[in-house]
Amino acid sequence: MSRLEGRTALITGAGTGIGRAVAERFAREGARVVIADKDADAASAVTASIGAAARAAVVDISDEASVETAFGDLVAAGWSPDVVVANAGVQLFGQDARAGDLDLDVWRRTIDINLTGTFLTVKHAVRAMLGSGGGSIILTGSPTGIRGEGSEFTAYSTSKAGIHGLARTVAAAYARDGIRVNAVVPAYTETGLVTSISADPEARAAIVSRIPAGRAGTPADIEGIMVFLAGDDAAFATGALFAVDGGMSTL
Ligand SMILES: NC(=O)c1ccc[n+]([C@@H]2O[C@H](COP(=O)([O-])OP(=O)(O)OC[C@H]3O[C@@H](n4cnc5c(N)ncnc54)[C@H](O)[C@@H]3O)[C@@H](O)[C@H]2O)c1
Repeated sequence: MSRLEGRTALITGAGTGIGRAVAERFAREGARVVIADKDADAASAVTASIGAAARAAVVDISDEASVETAFGDLVAAGWSPDVVVANAGVQLFGQDARAGDLDLDVWRRTIDINLTGTFLTVKHAVRAMLGSGGGSIILTGSPTGIRGEGSEFTAYSTSKAGIHGLARTVAAAYARDGIRVNAVVPAYTETGLVTSISADPEARAAIVSRIPAGRAGTPADIEGIMVFLAGDDAAFATGALFAVDGGMSTL
C-alpha cells in the first residue's frame, strides 16, 4: 500500500463523498494529501482524521482568486501538488429542469461550479505542474455527460460533457510537458449528492436496475482507478474516460 509514496495530491470536494474516500485512500498509499473544499469544517475534520500527511485548503473552485491563492499557498509551503483530482461538484436536484423550464440562475450556478470550477482547478494545476516537472490531473465526469440520463438534468449533463471535453483538450495540449489528464466516470454512487434518490426507494430501485452489477456504487469503488491514474502504472494513459459504473455504460 505505498503506490503513491512521495507524491502530493490535492483533491477538491474532499470534505465528503467520493473526494473524501479518494483522499483517505491516497494517504493510505503514502501520499501527502490536500483536502480542498468550500466547506471549511468538513475539510478540517477530514484533515484531522488523516493526521500529519494532510493539509486543509478552503477553496471555492468557482472563484479564480480563491483557486489561485490555494495553489500559491501550497507551492510556497512546499506542498506543490503533482496529482490533482478536480472532483468537487454539485447537482441541483429539483432545480435543474427541462431546458424550457430551466431558470438561468440554476444553469449558471451549476456551470460556474462544475465546469468553470473544474477549468479553474485545471488551469492552476497545470501552472503548478509546469514548474515542477509534470503530474497527473484527474477529473470526475459522469455518465450524464455521455448520453441522456434524465430529461431534467440539462445543466448538470452539459457541465459534465464539458468536463469530458476539457480532459481531452488539456491532455493533448500538455502531453509533452509530462502532464496527464484523464476523467473517471462513476455511475450512481451513494453520497450526500444523491440523497434525493437514495432516500426514495422507488427512484433508487429504478436506477439500480439499470446497473448490470445489481448494486449502487460506493465512494470506495472509485478509489482504485484514482490510485492507478495518479501513479506511474498509468504513465501512457492520458485524455481518456474511465467508466467505473458496474457495467451501466454497456446498456
Ligand atoms: N454521487 C454520484 O452518483 C456521482 C456520479 C457521477 C459523478 N459524480 C461526481 O462526483 C463528484 C463528487 O460528488 P459526490 O457524490 O462525492 O458529492 P458530495 O456532495 O458528497 O461532495 C461534493 C463536495 O464538493 C464540495 N463543493 C461543492 N461546491 C464546491 C465549490 N464551489 N468549491 C469547492 N468545493 C465544493 C462540497 O462541499 C462537498 O464536500 C462530483 O463532481 C459529482 O458530480 C457523482
